[in-house]
Amino acid sequence: MSADLDALAAYVGSLDRFPKSPYRAADGALTADARAGKAIFERLRCATCHGPPRFTDSGVGGLHDVGTLTAESGSRLGGPLTGLDTPTLRGIWDTAPYLHDGSAATLRDVLVTRNRDGKHGDVASLSESELTQLERYLLELE
Ligand code: HEC
Repeated sequence: MSADLDALAAYVGSLDRFPKSPYRAADGALTADARAGKAIFERLRCATCHGPPRFTDSGVGGLHDVGTLTAESGSRLGGPLTGLDTPTLRGIWDTAPYLHDGSAATLRDVLVTRNRDGKHGDVASLSESELTQLERYLLELE
């Protein structure tokens, strides 16, 4: 029994670690595109909610409505659902599909398809190559 508990404790203790991103350069550094994407991430103020090192404001920032809630999103504590706890972006290369309802198959769907009103960052202001750089940064977070 206590061996099971030890194993469970070891497992839970491992949940704050994130898998290495295969998108990084061979030496583990951010690629040039990801470095450019990092600057865009900062410029678009993504870090207000997804700030390093945790890449989430969970526990300190409250709930946010970034335009992804739908009639099917459900309720909260018996009342209306007004926002969501910000998820971390660490290890996100490995965790598709995205958003609380899995409605975004790819990161581009999060940033574009499910962000038509721009409530989840002014991504519409980016050129195609800037958008690719931002995606690349997200894919290299670990
Ligand atoms: C106002 C706070 C806030 C800001 C600013 C913000 N986000 Fe988010 N982000 C959220 C919340 C809340 C969710 C969860 C939405 C959902 O699940 O429907 C989320 C979800 C995500 C996801 C999907 C994560 C997952 O595991 O499903 C990605 C990727 C993401 N954000 C990237 C960004 C980027 C890039 C920017 C800047 C352009 C940004 N966010 C700006 C709060 C924010």
